[in-house]
Amino acid sequence: MPFGVIYIAIMPTVDNPTERTLAELGVNDAQGVAEKFAEVRARFDRQVALDADGIRNLMLQEAWLGSDSDPASSLRNFWVGRKAGVLTLVTENWLKKSPPSLKGVVGKQFNELKTHIESKLEEQRKRIEEKTEASAATRDRIDLSLPGVLRPVGSHHLIRQVFQEIEDIFFSIGFSVVEGPEIETPYYNFEALNIPEFHPVRDDMDTFYLELPKGASTPLLLRTHTSPMQIRTMEKQKPPVRVIVPGKVYRRDNPDATHSFAFHQIEGLAVDTDITFCDFTGTIEYFVKQFFGPSVKTRFRPSYFPFTEPSVEFDVSCPFCAGTGTAAGGGTCSKCKGAAWIELFGAGMVDPAVYGFVNYDAKKVSGFAFGIGIDRLAMLKYGIDDIQVFFQNDVRFLRQFP
Ligand code: FA5
Repeated sequence: MPFGVIYIAIMPTVDNPTERTLAELGVNDAQGVAEKFAEVRARFDRQVALDADGIRNLMLQEAWLGSDSDPASSLRNFWVGRKAGVLTLVTENWLKKSPPSLKGVVGKQFNELKTHIESKLEEQRKRIEEKTEASAATRDRIDLSLPGVLRPVGSHHLIRQVFQEIEDIFFSIGFSVVEGPEIETPYYNFEALNIPEFHPVRDDMDTFYLELPKGASTPLLLRTHTSPMQIRTMEKQKPPVRVIVPGKVYRRDNPDATHSFAFHQIEGLAVDTDITFCDFTGTIEYFVKQFFGPSVKTRFRPSYFPFTEPSVEFDVSCPFCAGTGTAAGGGTCSKCKGAAWIELFGAGMVDPAVYGFVNYDAKKVSGFAFGIGIDRLAMLKYGIDDIQVFFQNDVRFLRQFP
């Protein structure tokens, strides 16, 4: 029940002499004055000694109800409240209205009463404060004998783990990591990679365009591959360049077991004055054997990308049937569908036309590039047959790759 300084209209059950003047109380000498003050003081002493419930009951009897949140402050308001506290009543009714002959004695008694009440209320406040602090300290005490709380430690997503595995392999042969924007301009995603507007390759790389305010200087799109970072890196850096670029890419592909509209790639780019096709094949083979194990075989097939010349598709012997095309229990291997090889990624020697976009001298430099689809690589290595599980965040799947 909240208490406070607001009176409500119920009749007090306690007769309050301070609401009347000394004359109305029949007091006309110093002894009478002292007796009245002694009565008030005794009443205060009884009240200040009460516990919280006692004060609540008392305030009800006194009809002192309002909005104070605790009994101690309603008792304080009852006695020293500026508007209607007992001391204010004593000032108004006894002190100010006393005859001149009694003024001195009333004033003296009043000061003593006031000092007494204020010091006792202050003592009470300190007592309550100490008690509250002590009980808070007890409540907050740490019980060292209780068993500890086991907090489950999370783990990296499988795609993140595969990124790290690949990064470590390339770190070991002198590559470093760079990252680039997922929102790109058509220039970096297509044109500077030797894919002009209306080039048929753009059909395979349809993407999402951002809605821009009218008059925007260039359209913006979600990058379809990590290859734009070939251009951005060469723009910033003179040869030798040896970087890999992990990141997210987007395409307007319908989701199925091997396609997602958001997926992951790692780009690789090495450019220097003396890089040959042998450096290229040696690097790729080193990576694949580190990643899948030394027993896998590799092969290159001719392919086409506008930004590499010559371009290749890189295949590994199927790690599930050891490159035989036959499943362990007989019958056709379901992973490579009997082909004995699995296509891994596209790559090639950097097309000299690309150097023209980054002010490299195509006569002096050479290099190679590759772009690995991480999701499909992870599926292959860990025997996952649906790419969608990477994006569903089902803990039953995630927990299998702690
Ligand atoms: C490219 O993206 C080229 N930028 C790769 C490249 C880089 C070639 C440097 C030469 C030099 P491609 O469109 O084939 O190439 O995609 C590369 C890989 O991304 C594919 O092998 C595949 O693993 C993966 N990929 C492509 N589309 C999807 C998709 N919708 N969902 C999941 N993975 C995909």
